[in-house]
Amino acid sequence: MTTIFAPAKINLTLEILRKRPDGYHEICSIMQAISLFDVLDFQEADGLKVYSDNDTWDGRISLVVQAVNLLRERTGTRKGASIFVQKHIPLLSGLGGDSSDAVAALTGLNTLWNLGLGRGELMEIARKLGSDLTFFFYGGTALATGRGEVISPLPPLPRSWIILIIPDTPRQPGKTKTAYQSLNPGHYSDGNTTHQLINNLESGKTLDDILLINAFERVALSLYPGLATLRQQFSESGIPNLHLAGSGPTLFSIYINETEARMIFSQLKSRHFQCYLTETI
Ligand code: C5P
Repeated sequence: MTTIFAPAKINLTLEILRKRPDGYHEICSIMQAISLFDVLDFQEADGLKVYSDNDTWDGRISLVVQAVNLLRERTGTRKGASIFVQKHIPLLSGLGGDSSDAVAALTGLNTLWNLGLGRGELMEIARKLGSDLTFFFYGGTALATGRGEVISPLPPLPRSWIILIIPDTPRQPGKTKTAYQSLNPGHYSDGNTTHQLINNLESGKTLDDILLINAFERVALSLYPGLATLRQQFSESGIPNLHLAGSGPTLFSIYINETEARMIFSQLKSRHFQCYLTETI
């Protein structure tokens, strides 16, 4: 059996520069892997069985099954597998869970089936599945450009704690596309804030919340009913500096001080919010 841990990510910045002729948007984003993992187990089997401990996870629309199909097409293998996806990353939350699972499927099956593909070849398959999969071959802290698939590793953040709050708001598959379609040039920026944050990271400065900007912030407030009220409640109850994760709806806040992070996390827990305390990895 092969087991792979698939981490979640947040975008510390997410700037949209412009719309491209191919219909995608050119982005400039700092991505950060965090210690919230799905766990995928791979075993040889006849045929293909993909299942999960989460009843609402649907293998048929997951990128995991698409990853398996592309890998089979690319290599011509007829081997089978049983893939168990233990879900911890909330579904459709802006934390990249499905993309990370698909990358885990590519690397896990490459090992299980002894396919011998190199990382570059796996990345080529991953790029066909979506823009944000490439990051999960790197993890850590990285700059994402192009449509999100061009990754340059960055110096790691100083050890930080990240609180994630998952709003109880309805969301549909395809929500990333909808979020991109809701953008207009008024949401575009020049990438300077991201580069300023990179300069700060490279010179060992602490993270400045002012620089953690996300082009989807305003879009998400209209796409996710209740998000604005929730943000307001949090800031009134002393949880400052909440940011949107990816295209939402998850909110995150980031702390250098572990005691402060644990205190705020237990306050949120006691108020029965779905939340997680994670670390940068
Ligand atoms: O790359 P992915 O398949 O995850 O993207 C889903 C949709 O989001 C795309 O079809 C596109 O409409 C939009 N998108 C975009 N610009 C990006 C990434 C995604 O417009 N950089």
